Amino acid sequence: MILMWIHKYKLKTLEEFIGNESAVKSLINWADNWKNEKMKAVLIMGPTGSGKTTITKLIAKKLNYNIVETNASDVRSKKALETFFGQSLNQQSLFYKGKIVLFDEIDGISGQNDRGAPGVIKKIIETSSHPIILTGTDSGSSAVKAIKKICKIIKFEKVDTDIIQNLLKNICDLEKVYIEDKIIRAISRHADGDIRAAINDLETLAIKGTDINLDSVKGIGFRDSKRSIENILKILFITNDANIAIESMDNLGVDPGEMLEWVRENMPREYTDKKDIAKAYEFISRADIFKGRITRMQYYRFMVYEIQLMTAGVAASKSEKPRNLKSYHFPTKIAVMARTMFERAKNKTNAKALSPHIHTSTHVAREYFPLIKLMKEKNPEQYRRLSEEIGVNI
Ligand SMILES: Nc1ncnc2c1ncn2[C@@H]1O[C@H](COP(=O)(O)OP(=O)(O)O)[C@@H](O)[C@H]1O
Ligand SMILES: [Mg+2]
Repeated sequence: MILMWIHKYKLKTLEEFIGNESAVKSLINWADNWKNEKMKAVLIMGPTGSGKTTITKLIAKKLNYNIVETNASDVRSKKALETFFGQSLNQQSLFYKGKIVLFDEIDGISGQNDRGAPGVIKKIIETSSHPIILTGTDSGSSAVKAIKKICKIIKFEKVDTDIIQNLLKNICDLEKVYIEDKIIRAISRHADGDIRAAINDLETLAIKGTDINLDSVKGIGFRDSKRSIENILKILFITNDANIAIESMDNLGVDPGEMLEWVRENMPREYTDKKDIAKAYEFISRADIFKGRITRMQYYRFMVYEIQLMTAGVAASKSEKPRNLKSYHFPTKIAVMARTMFERAKNKTNAKALSPHIHTSTHVAREYFPLIKLMKEKNPEQYRRLSEEIGVNI
């Protein structure tokens, strides 16, 4: 099997972990002495790729805990959270190992008040009989705000360039590839504390092979789409220059429609002044109108306007300095669409199957779904026949 280097060189033991020494020490102390600790949960805050998830898993392994894991992008809603934790925490593990709960990347969990998902996490922390480790990157996110008072906060810093450089050199030795020191240095610096990015970039260049030079290092990085999206957002939120804002999207590897969702999601987090936010929303909504026209009429020439509105328009809307956030949120809309994709596809198929039989549009056919659901419940035999005859599957 061909493994990417990032998987092949995954750390196996705690002893191999590098960087953030004192943070790691206090994390181990806390986990080892959890029963007597005042804080029953730890929140590790730090940039992407600094090893937060990795260290949690290594500590669990070392201290012989089973890990109960959730990533915020899988489990965001309150109900899903409750079900997830209710089930996995109450199950006794077979060989009675202790459990440690990892709540990874909580920034993605949104909701304002105590009844939302952050409130549920808070409740889980307060009532848990297991140690909990949470990770986050954005100290302004609503989940972090909701829980930071009841957690021990441990800060991870970006991993030093020197440390990354040594790591990359080791990998080159093990892989028997030769890459000049100054190139390795450039890759390490370029990664900006993100070990995952550094290893991926190194592999990309190694695959390219022969003529690697400093320019090739500058060219990488756009490969990782979240990183490139974040770079673009950073530029257009910070700059006051319309051209720079527009150019930020020149090498875009993602669809402008997707980019628009990123801008929509993160603009109100970056901008501070209400009037600025209102103005920027105005541009976003105009960009959205063009986006709709592009999709409906396949009129791709409008993409220029869409891009100009969402970049230069949004950039020019600010009168106050933006917050200059460390990282950005994944767009809620895209997350919801992804989560409901199966459901939507199923509904569409059902509506198509049903509409010719009841002589309506597919749109109106959807209004019959509740009725059919009810039939399935109350009169399964009748539903079975209907389902066989016209192929609906509610
Ligand atoms: N200290 C380290 N030494 C070597 N590799 C590391 C180290 N920390 C992280 N990695 C590698 O870098 C990648 C990113 O680490 P991860 O724990 O996912 O970071 P985070 O959760 O902070 O985003 C992982 O593939 C991991 O194997
Ligand atoms: Mg992580």
